[in-house]
Amino acid sequence: MTQPAISIKDVSVTFRPLADRNPTLRRSVGTFRHREKQEIVALDDVSLDIYKGEAFGIIGRNGAGKSTLLKVMAKTLKPNTGTVNVYGKTSTLLSLGLGMKTELSGRRNVYLGGLAAGLRKSEIDERFDSIVDYADLGEAIERPVKTYSSGMFSRLAFSVAMAIRPNILLLDEVLAVGDESFREKSMETMRQLLDDAGTIVFVSHALPRVEEFCDRAAYFEAGRIRAIGPSSEVVDVYRSTV
Ligand SMILES: Nc1ncnc2c1ncn2[C@@H]1O[C@H](COP(=O)(O)OP(=O)(O)O)[C@@H](O)[C@H]1O
Ligand SMILES: [Mg+2]
Repeated sequence: MTQPAISIKDVSVTFRPLADRNPTLRRSVGTFRHREKQEIVALDDVSLDIYKGEAFGIIGRNGAGKSTLLKVMAKTLKPNTGTVNVYGKTSTLLSLGLGMKTELSGRRNVYLGGLAAGLRKSEIDERFDSIVDYADLGEAIERPVKTYSSGMFSRLAFSVAMAIRPNILLLDEVLAVGDESFREKSMETMRQLLDDAGTIVFVSHALPRVEEFCDRAAYFEAGRIRAIGPSSEVVDVYRSTV
């Protein structure tokens, strides 16, 4: 496990949360004047290498910068400074709901998701039945996604994410939902991906799952890495501070 799949060097991300607010409102709310000029430092000079064949966990309190880091890896967010190198085809499963048009059917969402991930229509046609089978949706694939249970929703999202046959899978708080049997099935699929020298980055509050599933982990605090190493050790450090 020495070939990097993701290499992050000196990455910082800052947000200016209230920058574009209505100036009249801004003037009238004097006490916020100072705060709105402050930048939020979501990632503070982070360097991190994640290797091929490894499952890497990211833990930390809300607001620590975990989701921001995943977005940087997914290249959906450009850091203010630093470099990000990703070696392989990436599939992303961010928090539930992202990317699905819930008024449309499951079928339409398979196509929209596949196209968004760079598949051609013919490739989605070929893989469609296996996507639906894997998600175990049956006839429900024709129904609007807004009628789905959270379990059905996450099964579909995971199945579409895997259908692009990624080398790198980025997961943000997604496997907490869904039923136990699907969780087992998705874990098995992810283990296969790791066996094929794939890489999984797994953001989760489910500490036992991070310990069980991830080889290494990083504990983020206020946009920085507070601890990094074997997942069980990092989880212990985190537990001792909460
Ligand atoms: N689009 C945004 N605009 C302004 N602030 C943001 C935005 N996204 C994240 N933040 C802020 O950046 C910090 C890190 O957020 P995030 O990466 O979502 O943390 P986590 O996933 O660990 O809970 C938080 O203070 C959050 O409020
Ligand atoms: Mg988050």
